[in-house]
Amino acid sequence: MNESIKVIIDTDPGVDDAIAILMALVWPRIAPNIELVGITTVGGNVALARATRNALALLEYAGRQDLPVAQGASRPLSGRYGYSHKFHGQTGLSRRLPRPTSRAINASAVEYLAHQLQRQPGQCHLIALGPLTNLSQLMAAHPHALSQSASIVVMGGAVEVPGNVTPHAEFNFYSDPVAANEVISSGIPLTLVDLSVCRQVFIGRDEVENLKSASPVGRLVVQILLNWFRKDPNRQLFEFYDPLALAVALRPGLIARRQLEVVVETSDLARLGRSKVVSNEGPVAVANDVDGEAFAVLLYDLFELTRR
Ligand code: BDR
Ligand code: CA
Repeated sequence: MNESIKVIIDTDPGVDDAIAILMALVWPRIAPNIELVGITTVGGNVALARATRNALALLEYAGRQDLPVAQGASRPLSGRYGYSHKFHGQTGLSRRLPRPTSRAINASAVEYLAHQLQRQPGQCHLIALGPLTNLSQLMAAHPHALSQSASIVVMGGAVEVPGNVTPHAEFNFYSDPVAANEVISSGIPLTLVDLSVCRQVFIGRDEVENLKSASPVGRLVVQILLNWFRKDPNRQLFEFYDPLALAVALRPGLIARRQLEVVVETSDLARLGRSKVVSNEGPVAVANDVDGEAFAVLLYDLFELTRR
């Protein structure tokens, strides 16, 4: 029998985070040995309390309120998060969900991650979809825990491409550049799914208008996307940032990668959060190409999507 593959998502939901979480929840449809074991939350797209509420609400919608949600950082290592309400909406989700009846567990994100990773070394796959504050705090409090992950995939950075917050920086790295640098330059092997590949996987307004799904989770995804497009008539494409990172963690063959040493700018204010390649050999596997067609097929499969 295949051993189960355990997954923990660190996230700041967020429209695209929400879709990534829902992907993980339905993944056992196509691979029964994949098991989402818990979620840790971090401020970023929205305030921490809202990110946590959204994570709980998504789990409840999918009937998985049994899964633990542990709250993490409400602030970056220095300063404050600049929330992204313009993109994600005031609540962080473009579709209203009932107020969750469940609550976050008592353990903090750092305590939860330390416990899970150290209890089962080499067993848990960690996927980071928000600012890297929780992971950096984990490294400080439990120096050996993070490297006990079976794998780490981070959505963040803009390696040799323009950023999406400033000309140099991507949102997750910009939100906590110090934490991003601690994690990315730590020497711990990880995969970086940066903007260059995320921009290659998107869905257009017309395609979304014509989507339907045979499953409740799939219908929620369609509504999230439809409402996101309807918020602004100028929106023509939705790029699947966090969903791609989630997919890469569970299906590594989706991308091509190159091994680099990367650091994140923490002092030059004009270039804050910029990802800089300092060597063409290193522990960071940076995605540099993606099989967009395979990703689209995967999405249709997971969410039981068809065109009207
Ligand atoms: C990243 O920033 C957030 O707005 C998204 O959720 C994603 O994690 C893309 O730059
Ligand atoms: Ca995110």
